[in-house]
Amino acid sequence: MKRTVSILVALVLVLSVGVGMVAQTAPKIGVCIYKFDDTFMSYVRNTIETAAKGKAILSVQDSMYDQPRQNDQVDQFLVEGMKSLAINMVDPSAVSVLIGKAAKKKVPLVLFNREPAAADMAKYAMAYYVGAKAQESGTMEGEIVADYWKKNPSADLNKDGVLQYVMLIGDPSNTDAKYRTEFSIKAVTAAGIKVQKLAEDTAMWDRPKAQEKMAAWLTAYAGKIEVVFANNDDMALGAIEALKAAGYFKDGKYMPVVGVDATPPALDALEQGYLLGTVLNDAKRQGLATFELAYSLALGKPASTTVAPLANADGKPDPKGKYVWVPYVKVTKDNYKAFK
Ligand code: BGC
Ligand code: CA
Repeated sequence: MKRTVSILVALVLVLSVGVGMVAQTAPKIGVCIYKFDDTFMSYVRNTIETAAKGKAILSVQDSMYDQPRQNDQVDQFLVEGMKSLAINMVDPSAVSVLIGKAAKKKVPLVLFNREPAAADMAKYAMAYYVGAKAQESGTMEGEIVADYWKKNPSADLNKDGVLQYVMLIGDPSNTDAKYRTEFSIKAVTAAGIKVQKLAEDTAMWDRPKAQEKMAAWLTAYAGKIEVVFANNDDMALGAIEALKAAGYFKDGKYMPVVGVDATPPALDALEQGYLLGTVLNDAKRQGLATFELAYSLALGKPASTTVAPLANADGKPDPKGKYVWVPYVKVTKDNYKAFK
């Protein structure tokens, strides 16, 4: 009994010394996600949480699509003495407020996925951005469609030589949405294809909202829609639900639908022949880059020493080392297996 007790005491001592050591070396980092209820962001968040294990103490907050709430969360982080912040903004145009708060306490700020204006980024030397060039993803989506259109003359349902399309737009305050909308169509026209927009509207990156929109369009433009563009996979999958309900994807009735993200459910839809193509928005690399950058900054290391090695794996930092760009990859039935 006595022996067990002393072993226990020894164990407790060892454990508390261990915990003490972690607490001493592991910096506290505050993380906000614009809303937890976003498929793509949930993969980014998981990566950040996994990467932080044994290295940093994270506080991860759901900003619930509410910028004032996020501002309060950042205030709280600063009160709690977080050594760096990793923030996925609700409204990127409101970044000045967060920059003001972080700068006052000289705490580094890593923004990710929802890109603020360059002019705002320039206001704080310790503001960084990790993301992907949305133009690239738009171009890739457009190329997938152009390629399909050229190989499948029957896709031109009314035989007028013009591609009639609908566009499901993400959150309009997000540059990803803006650029994907613009550059996907640019790539189609650059391939020499004439287009006509039948309808476009925001479905806020959201699957049920996109399903609703698509169902309404299928009624309003019955038989006229030839291609569906979606700014992300969740909305593409919503559109596919509406198409299935309207009798598509059987008895030879098909509709080309493209998205962005290459989420696991989207890759399943691709495999099953519902989704024509998508673009890998690399949640893993973005999450990893975000964490590694926030972690190094929290330890007081200069960003240049961490961004550069990251760039080898992830993307190229800009000359000033404030941006880490993670590349997109085109995904179709020819290569999707590599991403599953
Ligand atoms: C993703 C969307 C996601 C959004 C969140 C985009 O990069 O493609 O799926 O909803 O980020 O900000
Ligand atoms: Ca046509």
